[in-house]
Parts: sequence; C-alpha cells; structure tokens
Amino acid sequence: MNIQNNISLRAYNTFHMDVRAEHFASFDSTDELLSLLQMPIITQQPLLILGGGSNVLFTRDVAGSVLKNNIKGIEKVDEDDQYYFIKAGAGENWHSFVMYCVEQGYAGIENLALIPGSVGASPMQNIGAYGVEIKDVFHSLEAIHIKDGHSSIFTANDCEFGYRESVFKNKYKKTYVIASVTYRLAKKPSFVISYGAIEQQLEKMQVKELSLHSVAQAVMAIRQSKLPDPLVLGNAGSFFKNPTIPAEQYHSLKENFSSLVAYEQPNSQFKLAAGWLIEQCGWKGFRKGDAGCHSQQALVLVNHGKATGAQIYQLSEEIIQSVTSKFGVVLEREVNIY
Ligand code: EPU
Repeated sequence: MNIQNNISLRAYNTFHMDVRAEHFASFDSTDELLSLLQMPIITQQPLLILGGGSNVLFTRDVAGSVLKNNIKGIEKVDEDDQYYFIKAGAGENWHSFVMYCVEQGYAGIENLALIPGSVGASPMQNIGAYGVEIKDVFHSLEAIHIKDGHSSIFTANDCEFGYRESVFKNKYKKTYVIASVTYRLAKKPSFVISYGAIEQQLEKMQVKELSLHSVAQAVMAIRQSKLPDPLVLGNAGSFFKNPTIPAEQYHSLKENFSSLVAYEQPNSQFKLAAGWLIEQCGWKGFRKGDAGCHSQQALVLVNHGKATGAQIYQLSEEIIQSVTSKFGVVLEREVNIY
C-alpha cells in the first residue's frame, strides 16, 4: 500500500502507453482503500482508480494519484433452486474468474471468456460479447464512495445498464470505487450459441455435447482468430461503439450500401457494425508509425510498439472524420481517454 512517486503506467494499461503517474499505490482490501482515501496526498489532488487498464488510452502523464484496485477473493455467498450467487473481488482478473466459474459449473458468463480486464470493470461498462452482457447475470455490487468512504450496495436497476454503459461511466463517474461484484449464475446452463459464429466454431471443433467448457473454448478460438492479444500487441479491444441509428437513416444507407451490416433493435432502431464502416473507409490494416488499425478487426486500434496515446487518438479522429463523411454516422469512442 506504499505510495510511489513518478511511476510508469506502462505495465498497467493494455495499450502499453509509457506515461507516468505522479503518485501510485495499489490496495488489496476495502480497509486499505479507505486508509488511502484519507491521506492528504490523495485527497488534495486528482484521483484515478485503475482496474485492469484494458479500456483506457493514456494520452499524457497523469497528474495526481493513480490507485490500482487489487481486491481479490471469490466466494459462493448464496444459492437457491436455480442459481448460485458468486461474489468476486473487483481486482480479480476477469478471464480467470470466467474459467473458475466454468470449472465449477456456474453458468452464464462462458461467452465472456478472454475479455481483458478485471471483475470491477464488468459492471462499469456492462461488458458483452457473443450475445451475452453482464447485466444478464448481474446481481449486485458493493462500492465505496470516494469522498466519504461509505459503502453502498447497487442492484442492477441502480446501475442503469445500457450498451457499454452504466451509472459509473455517467452520473457517478469518479464518485465510487467498485469493491466487489455478485453474479447470479445458473445451475442449469442455457447456452447462447447462435451469435457470432459460435455454432460453426463448435462444429469445427467437433463438439458433440454442449458444455460450459466447450462454449468457452469456442469463444476463445473465435476471439483469438480476430482480436489481438494485448500481451503481444497493445490494444483496448473495440475502440469505438457500434452506433445506433433511426430506421429511416438505416434504410437510406442500405439503399446506397447494400452490404451494410446492421442489427435491428427492439426500439425500431438499427445498430451498425462499426468495424464494417471503418473497413469500408479503407482503414483496416492501416498503420502510421506504430499506431494502427487491426488487420483482422477494424474496430480495434493497436499500438505496434512505440505509438503514443496522442498518435492513437489522432488516428481515431481521422477514422471518425472519414466514417462521418462517407456514411453520415458519427462514431463514439468506447475507450476512456485520459
Ligand atoms: N466487420 C467488418 N469488418 C471488420 C470488423 C467487423 O466488416 O473489420 C463486420 C462483420 O460483418 C461482422 C460484424 O461487423 O459480422 C460484427 O463484427 P464482430 O462479430 O467482430 O463484432 P463487433 O460488432 O465488431 C462487438 C463487440 C466486441 C465483441 C463482439 C462479439 C462492441 C463495440 N464490440 O464487436 O466487444 O467481442 O461484438 O460479440 O460492441 C469490446 O467491447 O472491446 C469487444 C471486443
């Protein structure tokens, strides 16, 4: 829990940006967090709470303090006829937690295997992949108020989950630290395999009988085929959100671009595949210096080595501008920019 000064954050963000934090400390428990939150050096300056660093682009050194959430522990806190209620420390690695649940037979998050980041980030931005979002299995979370140190329980309703959104990215931004999350995981799996080529992958793997393990393995194989491993190539997953547009705008775009990829939403809106829009503008595989657009999935920006956050940001600006001028659709960044 020592406070260190002038520390490189390179190892703490999956884009591998070598920016420095004025002060840095990590905490292993809520007690340690509460002690840190009372220290004048922490209270008197800007504060950034960091989880796995997998959804952030640092464009400059960080003034003030960075506190890394390392709260660990996985516990079955309750069960009923249908569900196990599993509580995990916010600092647990997300993928390890998924695999633990798969091994234990706790069903519901197997489609979310291999998403980089920590347990604490899962409700923060309602992580999702292959037809499952965390809101589908979320029970509650415990969060500590940064200013007064009080602990509160948030239910799913309190979190106001949306597509890659929650209150913690909006009205409670920089207000709380998520300490633990409790998930409601099923005793009897209901497999979600119709989305994103999971079925084809299972066939390819010659899986005869579905299991949590086989679905997780299929998801991992699909992800590994298109998404770069942050340990090998710096990135923060999808850099942009898939934009949602009104039906009218969708139909007129579809007339001009017949291969437009879109998914109809319940509110008669259409969600467009941003990866497709970006690829159509010629960015897929583009590289300028060490800042690039991934060759297998245009929605992912990558750091080939020594790109700066400012260069990645500049590339994202250029992509937004070209998609806007070709399609009249303004992409929104999913990644948090500092
Ligand atoms: N596509 C292209 N070119 C590309 C990329 C995609 O044409 O370069 C088209 C393809 O037609 C494809 C469609 O877009 O069928 C959708 O692509 P994909 O299945 O890869 O999913 P995505 O919409 O690009 C979203 C999530 C991912 C998640 C996948 C799978 C967002 C912002 N991203 O990507 O989440 O893994 O679905 O469910 O919603 C993340 O949030 O960091 C992330 C990786």
